[in-house]
Amino acid sequence: MELPSGSLFLLGFLLLFAALLDLAAAIRFPDRIPESGRRQPNQPLRVAVFALGSFWRSEATFGCLPGVVRTSVGYAGGSKTNPEYRNLGDHAESVQVEYDPKLIQFKQLLDVFWASHDPRQVFGQGPDVGNQYRSIIFTNGTLEARLAAASKEREQTKSRGSIVTTQIQQLGTFYPAESEHQKFELKHNPFLLQLIGNMPEEELMTSSLAAKLNGYAAELCPPRIQKKFDAKINEILKNGWPILREV
Ligand SMILES: *[C@@H]1O[C@H](CO)[C@@H](O)[C@H](O)[C@H]1NC(C)=O
Repeated sequence: MELPSGSLFLLGFLLLFAALLDLAAAIRFPDRIPESGRRQPNQPLRVAVFALGSFWRSEATFGCLPGVVRTSVGYAGGSKTNPEYRNLGDHAESVQVEYDPKLIQFKQLLDVFWASHDPRQVFGQGPDVGNQYRSIIFTNGTLEARLAAASKEREQTKSRGSIVTTQIQQLGTFYPAESEHQKFELKHNPFLLQLIGNMPEEELMTSSLAAKLNGYAAELCPPRIQKKFDAKINEILKNGWPILREV
């Protein structure tokens, strides 16, 4: 039987197509970009500073959030140079949060800020009373200032029974606090310290794991993360291997 020339053309085309497919399969495409949970090392981090009562607790509150890379406590919002814990002048106890803007946004940090303290208490938080425990959002640039102002307005509309005392200030100098105040909650938990191999002081300052564990120690992580830590720690206890490297 003679094939019409149209069919021959089609057959030839199909054979060529198959060969091309084969070739395509042989080409190795580079691996996909790492999963979004992993931070790319050249991605610049952003910095936010908040005051919301005792900085021990503030650091624990922000340290556990996905996307937060480092935390530290210090003094900000006042004019005294080189403040100290027992002599901080007009500064407020503050937390500095370094975060990856691909994973968490300033807006979400604001939500956590509002949810984690009582912004209507005048110059204090719970039993901690004094000017150093006042509530402040520090902003860098007009966009952050606008977001902060809008979020404060929203907070105020929740109730007209009292005034939201939170101040919004331009971010100025952040004076790091003495080392005994850094990762305070973690440092007062010998079990957790042992679990991470008694990390040296300098490493505690910069470690993301330490920032997270500091939140876990204070039971201030989001419930899902708190549970993840529980599971990991139970596993380590069962295996008798005391070093926690990551969660
Ligand atoms: C404000 O943000 C800019 C750009 O992200 C940064 O270079 C600068 O250091 C920040 N200012 C402060 C006081 O952190």
